[in-house]
Amino acid sequence: MPTTRKPILAANWKMNKGPAETEDFLKSFLQKLQEKKNFPCEIVIAPPFVSLAKAAEMLSASNAPVQLAAQNASQYDAGAYTGETTMLMLKEFFVHYVILGHSERRAIYGESDEVINAKLKKAREAHLKPIFCIGETLAEREGGKLEEVLGRQITVGLDGLGEKDMLDTVIAYEPVWAIGTGVTATTEQAQQAHAFVRGLVAKMFGKEVAEKVRIQYGGSVKPANAAELMACPDIDGALVGGAALDPQSFFDLVKNACTVVEE
Ligand code: 13P
Repeated sequence: MPTTRKPILAANWKMNKGPAETEDFLKSFLQKLQEKKNFPCEIVIAPPFVSLAKAAEMLSASNAPVQLAAQNASQYDAGAYTGETTMLMLKEFFVHYVILGHSERRAIYGESDEVINAKLKKAREAHLKPIFCIGETLAEREGGKLEEVLGRQITVGLDGLGEKDMLDTVIAYEPVWAIGTGVTATTEQAQQAHAFVRGLVAKMFGKEVAEKVRIQYGGSVKPANAAELMACPDIDGALVGGAALDPQSFFDLVKNACTVVEE
């Protein structure tokens, strides 16, 4: 991971931790962060919507180097969309990032590449930074469709975005078979996919933009494997589920990942 791209370590809590548990986590995590003066990477936490207010309150009071992300938002501006949240509403909670296109949104809620593309554009209109997730299933990988799937997700998902939008977008490569399974992609598999994705970004936005875009790896990242993944030339961070639910575990993961940047 070249130092020209600031690594980004993000916790995706999924449907875990209401406000009380968010408070407990942050009390402990923020205290641990004080053990270390400077972090050569960005740290992001994505709690459920109902916990954003508590997280925002605690983060602004502590001045901690942690930014907030939401896990999803609507492609629409306002109106009769029961249960939905707009990008602009998120801004009121000091949210900087929004995770879009997570494989769970794609598989369970049927979000298509086109819907995800509309959400990316809406996020940029609101000056939110998308964490745009892509990744293949095991059947797609075993069927030799890795490049076709990533190609479609990138081409349709990023269609119509400008260069500046792309520079403010983080891509998260999360092979579906590695999410929550304990099976991590090997560093070779991850690096190969990341290099391929960077190549696709170069075709759409030019080489200079592609060299600056950060591509995170996600899927069973833990404190023990974070550093070796981060050492790959095209891996610029991690999007972490299970191992980010415990403050000690996420802190160790951040610390271990940072050792690669500090070397
Ligand atoms: P796990 O780290 O639990 O495999 O989840 C990864 C993920 O889906 C992050 O968005």
